[in-house]
Amino acid sequence: MREMTLSGNSPSDSAPLAIVTGSTGGFGKEFVRLLAEDGFDLLLIARDEEALRRQAQETEQSSGRRCSILVADLSEGAGVQKVVCCIQNVRQPVRVLVNNAGFGALGAFQRLEPPGQMIAVNAEALAMLTHAVLPQMVAAREGLILNVASAAAFSPGPLMATYYATKAFVLSFSEALSEELRGSGVRVCAFCPGPSTTGFGARAGIEGTPTFDRHALPPGRLVAIGYARARAGQVVIVPSLRIKAMLVLSRLVPRSMVRWWMGRQLAIRARASGVSPQS
Ligand SMILES: NC(=O)c1ccc[n+]([C@@H]2O[C@H](COP(=O)([O-])OP(=O)(O)OC[C@H]3O[C@@H](n4cnc5c(N)ncnc54)[C@H](OP(=O)(O)O)[C@@H]3O)[C@@H](O)[C@H]2O)c1
Repeated sequence: MREMTLSGNSPSDSAPLAIVTGSTGGFGKEFVRLLAEDGFDLLLIARDEEALRRQAQETEQSSGRRCSILVADLSEGAGVQKVVCCIQNVRQPVRVLVNNAGFGALGAFQRLEPPGQMIAVNAEALAMLTHAVLPQMVAAREGLILNVASAAAFSPGPLMATYYATKAFVLSFSEALSEELRGSGVRVCAFCPGPSTTGFGARAGIEGTPTFDRHALPPGRLVAIGYARARAGQVVIVPSLRIKAMLVLSRLVPRSMVRWWMGRQLAIRARASGVSPQS
């Protein structure tokens, strides 16, 4: 295990590299496991250095693949720039980028922290890293960019307004790029899971609420579906039948009804977790 430096790897490196942001969390861990099994070396990115070191060691031991780590806070310009420099200087061919790091927060918009950090991690960093990695993927005519969106991407989310809006960005951005890159050998997709038993619920303040817990699925199952469909070339990946059915239904009713219903669901979550749904 090495800490990735801005000067990249040794010149002899030629094994394909997969980069995973938010690698230490629920979904990230599963992506790392599958990518290592598939023969990729890995660059793991998150803020917690200890967790990254542990994960890299375990992954190297279990898979035999080489893992590097990069400690970076993607809510800060300097953190994103660190990763961009690394991508531009790394000598291994980057063949997969999983833009997975992200977080949400439940509450009335003006009572929550200012939205800048969430927009930076969930949307801006994702676009910046995609921009950094594309030139070499396009030149090689090979690559996969798997952007972790959410079922939240498909509707407005009253009481999680910024989170839902960032995920709508991820979905739209990924679909548009997949079309721009048609025939280039580079694929871009948006992975849109519903609730899952990761660290996300606790950080967002929605864990323990009935509407979240009742529907939360294990991340392993969702990521296995997501990764398989991404490799098969699917662009918008909704890995659960329940969410798919809700999407079909939501297209049959007026948008005003969709946002009213979402508002009710999220207000139930807010009350259950002691968050005031009032502005
Ligand atoms: N779980 C769900 O219900 C659910 C549903 C739909 C979509 N998603 C999406 O899935 C993605 C992964 O989340 P998860 O569910 O696996 O949550 P998680 O267990 O909380 O993992 C989040 C990961 O992102 C990293 N991260 C958070 N803030 C960061 C920052 N500022 N800079 C760099 N890394 C950061 C965390 O590591 P550090 O804290 O060490 O930085 C961790 O590795 C997110 O984009 C989330 O929106 C989750």
